Amino acid sequence: MKTISTGDVEMAVEDRGSGPVLLLVHGFPLDHTMWEGQIAEFSPRCRTIAPDLPGFGRSPPARAPQPNAKLTMAEYAEHLERLLGALGASGPIVYCGLSMGGYIAWQFWRKFASRLAALVLCDTRAIADTPQVAAGRAELAARVLAEGPDPLVAAMLTKLLGPDTFAQRPQFVEQVRQMIGRATPAGAAAALGGMADRPDVTEWLGQIKLPTLLICGEHDVISPADEMRGIAGRIPGAQMEVIPAAGHMSPLENAAGFNAVLSEFLKRRLGW
Ligand code: MLT
Repeated sequence: MKTISTGDVEMAVEDRGSGPVLLLVHGFPLDHTMWEGQIAEFSPRCRTIAPDLPGFGRSPPARAPQPNAKLTMAEYAEHLERLLGALGASGPIVYCGLSMGGYIAWQFWRKFASRLAALVLCDTRAIADTPQVAAGRAELAARVLAEGPDPLVAAMLTKLLGPDTFAQRPQFVEQVRQMIGRATPAGAAAALGGMADRPDVTEWLGQIKLPTLLICGEHDVISPADEMRGIAGRIPGAQMEVIPAAGHMSPLENAAGFNAVLSEFLKRRLGW
């Protein structure tokens, strides 16, 4: 793992393999280790770049802790584009993002479409927060700034993982608990503010002219499969796949199923 300075932020990044780039962008309040199964599978055949977003994992927050902090999804996209530049990753990339990583993907597409070979959107949404959800995020951000990451574990853990994982794979529950524990209060609060502020991008979907794959865990309660089918229906030619025995964190909870779907897509659509 190395740390890259992109001018105004520092990002820790796992950069493995060579060739065309598969950028793996984690969800909230997680870090790059959620992609371990994909890094192991895909780095022998392409360059996997899996950063910790500012304030998560081993990356310091972009700004000092402050009430009502906000890092917008567009700002994360800009940081990622600068990170790719700093790593010399110049060719068209496959952007693969989960949940908040997907919210950032819409912005990355809008700003840097020419840098993209394909989009992979995992367990994510196109609509904005309702006022109630946004208010809940502001409350959670205030608690995290006051108390540290424990309220995040309480708020998120049961929603992130599916019933099969809780029943049969307790090691993943512990792994995700620890991942959430690495989130810095400043980083989590800024992300909560940014997610609450994100726009509804439904109108953009029909303009996406890239090979696009949507993947959703069958038991995802944050971005349910039916909602993702609706997104897929609006993106011309998009492919939608549901991963069995997985909740919101399909790449971690069923890495074999997830990898099979991604592998087939990369081969068929891009010849990777
Ligand atoms: C995520 O996994 O990134 C979050 O659950 C997204 C959200 O809270 O909307």
